[in-house]
Amino acid sequence: MAASPSRAGRRVRVVFFPFPYQGHFNPVLRLASALHARGLAVTVFHTDLRAPDPADYPSDYRFVSVPVHVPTDVVASEDIARLVMELNVSCAAPFRERLAALLAEEEDEEAGGVRCVITDVIWYSAQAAARELGLPALGFMTSSAASFRNFIAYPTLIEKGYLPVQEERRDDPVDILPPFRVKDLQRIETSSLADFASLLGHTVDGARRSSGLILNTFEALEAADLDKIRGDMSIPVFAVGPLNKLAPPIKSSLYQLQQDRRCLDWLGTQAPRSVIYVSFGSLATMDPHEFVELAWGLADSKRPFIWVARPSLIRGFESGDLPDGFREEVGDRGRIVDWVPQDEVLSHPAVGAFLTHNGWNSTMEAVSEGVPMIARPFLGDQYGNAMFVCSVWRVGVEVRVEDQLDRGKIQDAIGELMVNKRGKEVRDRMANLKEMAEKGIKEGGSSHTALLKVVDLILSV
Ligand code: UDX
Repeated sequence: MAASPSRAGRRVRVVFFPFPYQGHFNPVLRLASALHARGLAVTVFHTDLRAPDPADYPSDYRFVSVPVHVPTDVVASEDIARLVMELNVSCAAPFRERLAALLAEEEDEEAGGVRCVITDVIWYSAQAAARELGLPALGFMTSSAASFRNFIAYPTLIEKGYLPVQEERRDDPVDILPPFRVKDLQRIETSSLADFASLLGHTVDGARRSSGLILNTFEALEAADLDKIRGDMSIPVFAVGPLNKLAPPIKSSLYQLQQDRRCLDWLGTQAPRSVIYVSFGSLATMDPHEFVELAWGLADSKRPFIWVARPSLIRGFESGDLPDGFREEVGDRGRIVDWVPQDEVLSHPAVGAFLTHNGWNSTMEAVSEGVPMIARPFLGDQYGNAMFVCSVWRVGVEVRVEDQLDRGKIQDAIGELMVNKRGKEVRDRMANLKEMAEKGIKEGGSSHTALLKVVDLILSV
């Protein structure tokens, strides 16, 4: 039988340390919410780079700011691997200090009871700091199990010449990582391969030393990859997703973008499954030419759409810089906004398709709401996620990443998904996948059981 989440009248507390990027922040805070609902107390450590608004969370959450100092040129650059490693170096000492201070408050009724730390798996230095203080640390992988397998395999992928990607080998199968083709492998074009490999090496080493690995996925979706990870790592591995179904909707943007809630009213005026929702997450950037092509592709589709064109999406452009004649052409048929409550948009019955970069959160949110996808990956794990969506689960159609976005291809993809016979098959498969996700989080389902095991593990330490 599970132990009680309180000891001697005091709740057992978990410290969460999410990485300061929206796609990393959301799933960790959703996990915190799911564990809070099961009786655990929550303290959120966050960097002073980007702080969450405590008003968005239950009043008994505690928040602790961790100062980090990373050169501004690195923060502003697209060299993600270097940035993540610099952040790890910078946060180690202040994280340790603040965690030690929290542990010293053990006598304090409210603060005490810290039993465990859960960090993003890429916060490997924070994991090490927690262990030095004698606290068990669990790693949270914000992307898929298949993506974590890419991490593990990285040295071999380089050794075998699959990476860096060579143009003539893009379509070759990767023998050690089926069903990946070379072009689906995880990579960051704006970072050096050596830096990225080093980051992944630290991450996998840290995970091996952790007390367990938690993933926002579910068994029916990624059974083979989860099994492979379990075979490779001698730590417990928990698939607890889709976490967006276990937590309330995200209330604000970490980047202070205005969340446009009026689009929910507007969705209420649209026909069921008629609207295309377009968003490329929080990191992807496109050049102005692609932006213009996307705009006209949406306009020419003659369908209603919501398009998240946050200011940082277009290199050297302002979000207001729409092509001449575009606003007149689309009128009230198209909503162009900086940020939306995405989980609420995707769960709205008027939404019929999601043109997405296939960040893992967006992918899981679409799967759990049964919204078929038009895949247009930009970087990192998104190539592999898009491959699974289009070629393995077959719940989406792809706009080829080899080509620049152009209006004709966007229109073709929309037609294929929303009109053609193939679109109907894709929608049916998506409905099936949604059902499997629902089954997983119900009592007795695999994700439900895994979450209870995480609670048991925390209470047993
Ligand atoms: C990044 C990587 O790109 C992604 O591949 C990786 O898996 C996690 O880190 P990001 O690009 O931001 O994430 O994409 P995604 O994983 O989809 O996360 C974006 C989050 O922001 C989602 O939870 C989504 O619901 C939310 N969002 C996005 C909003 O709430 N509103 C918006 O308007 C757009």
